[in-house]
Amino acid sequence: MRQSETGPQPRLASVANPLRFRHPVRKDGQAVHDLIDSCEALDDNSLYCNFLQCTHFAGTCMLAEMNGEVVGWVSAYRPPEEPETLFVWQVAVAEAARGRRLARRLIAKLLASDSCTGVERLKTTITPDNASSWRMFEGVADEFDATISDKVWLCGEEHFSGDHDSEHMLTIGPIDAGDASATDLDEMPEHTTAKAA
Ligand SMILES: CC(C)(COP(=O)(O)OP(=O)(O)OC[C@H]1O[C@@H](n2cnc3c(N)ncnc32)[C@H](O)[C@@H]1OP(=O)(O)O)[C@@H](O)C(=O)NCCC(=O)NCCS
Repeated sequence: MRQSETGPQPRLASVANPLRFRHPVRKDGQAVHDLIDSCEALDDNSLYCNFLQCTHFAGTCMLAEMNGEVVGWVSAYRPPEEPETLFVWQVAVAEAARGRRLARRLIAKLLASDSCTGVERLKTTITPDNASSWRMFEGVADEFDATISDKVWLCGEEHFSGDHDSEHMLTIGPIDAGDASATDLDEMPEHTTAKAA
């Protein structure tokens, strides 16, 4: 059937794949744990740790869900000694949802949330071989016209006895968290919900 016979068609993606961003709640812990578990590049943490992130640190974590399934996750916190820094702990995007700038959008949504008021820089650690992660954080720096610097923070030999690659500390700044909502990453359909109780 031609479109002219039926009128404008709804955008399939917005009907079938509504993307929803929200802070996590306690019951998300298991789904978050499973998503992280599915990402080979990520170190596992205990399920208990993920429940803590979904409760005590919920304000500085953000998830994306599609059709009720958690497809994206960013965990972060503001270090007590350095509250103007948002330290991004882990970012995980389900394999099927990668390459659509979902990770970048999760970070932008998080920075735009009330709990990031006053954040001036973003820090994270990355291993040298994680090309998509480096590219993704370079993209975040570009979005904010910020500079990016890195130095070894945990050395493979010295801190991991050679059992783990070195972790480089990236610093991205200056960032005006208030500008996060103005980024141009909102081209995908989505629904935003209020933080659930
Ligand atoms: C890293 C990760 C979060 C990125 O998620 P994403 O939603 O696909 O990220 P984005 O689309 O915002 O950005 C990915 C960028 O990396 C690029 N990229 C993807 N794979 C790449 C590769 N193998 N080599 C180089 N660049 C790559 C993409 O082209 C994109 O850059 P562009 O937008 O300039 O084209 C996702 O791949 C993931 O969950 N990986 C496993 C867990 C992990 O490594 N987390 C990060 C460390 S905490």
